[in-house]
Amino acid sequence: MRRATTALYRCAAILFAASLAASAAAQDAPDGTFIGDVPYVATPQDVVERMLDLAKVGAGDYVIDLGSGDGRLVVTAAQRGAQGFGVDLDPKRIAESIENAKKAGVSERAQFFQRDLFETDFSRATVLTMYLLPDINIALRPKVLGLKPGTRVVSHDFHMGDWEPDQRIRMISKLTHYESNAYLWIVPAQAAGGWQAEGADPIRFEISQTFQQIKLQARSASGSLNAEDARLTGDRITFKAGVPGGPLRAYEGRIDGDAISGVIRDGAKETPWRARRAATK
Ligand SMILES: C[S@@+](CC[C@H](N)C(=O)[O-])C[C@H]1O[C@@H](n2cnc3c(N)ncnc32)[C@H](O)[C@@H]1O
Repeated sequence: MRRATTALYRCAAILFAASLAASAAAQDAPDGTFIGDVPYVATPQDVVERMLDLAKVGAGDYVIDLGSGDGRLVVTAAQRGAQGFGVDLDPKRIAESIENAKKAGVSERAQFFQRDLFETDFSRATVLTMYLLPDINIALRPKVLGLKPGTRVVSHDFHMGDWEPDQRIRMISKLTHYESNAYLWIVPAQAAGGWQAEGADPIRFEISQTFQQIKLQARSASGSLNAEDARLTGDRITFKAGVPGGPLRAYEGRIDGDAISGVIRDGAKETPWRARRAATK
């Protein structure tokens, strides 16, 4: 309880410092204040490792940290074989990050730029990390939701409003003894609307979508179908459907713009399956 309370104090301190900075509108900040929208508080290294575990960061990933502080997220990701960059408004942090990347021997794969996170193109990220504040996360949300479906987004301590995380972990850092939360979101594909399946099983289905949560209604030429277990993870959609009272067939596919392709599993039988966007009825 004491630890949880301490963590709340820490969050409150960040928020309080942010409001002070906003009123000071400091550009050339003396020590004790800060430049930008969020004060510098480093994510403890054991929490960094858990955040990167949560996003399953590995070689092949491109990691971008918005407000990168001393560069620890991107440097640690680069030590796992990933590439990426961090942006921070504070030139001292950028100098420190470049030095930290050098010391870790990952300068080739970890770059740092003095730049406003709101003016940063982060569309290349396969993993986006942040330790900002709730209102900043929410301001970034439209751009984050426009990233390639399947992009993993990890935030230390702060949520994204009503966009529920796909996963959340709570931990007490062994280094600071504070409680930390890490949230993971997987950017969902645009699945909402009407879809028409092609081929031997021309079912029609309508999807309603709130972020990664979907509801699906299906019908065939002979009437409504039972549909259940509709799930969307990045671009991967799965659901079960079948005639009322009959067995359900398992549909799975990947959404690529206006098309879905995948398979239908019916017991041991696997049939290729495609659907196209259709007008919503
Ligand atoms: C809470 S710290 C997080 C540092 C690092 N990501 C970590 O987790 O250890 C937030 C960082 O964001 C930077 N920052 C604040 N507003 C910014 C902005 N508009 N653009 C870029 N960086 C910003 C601050 O200078 C600070 O280093």
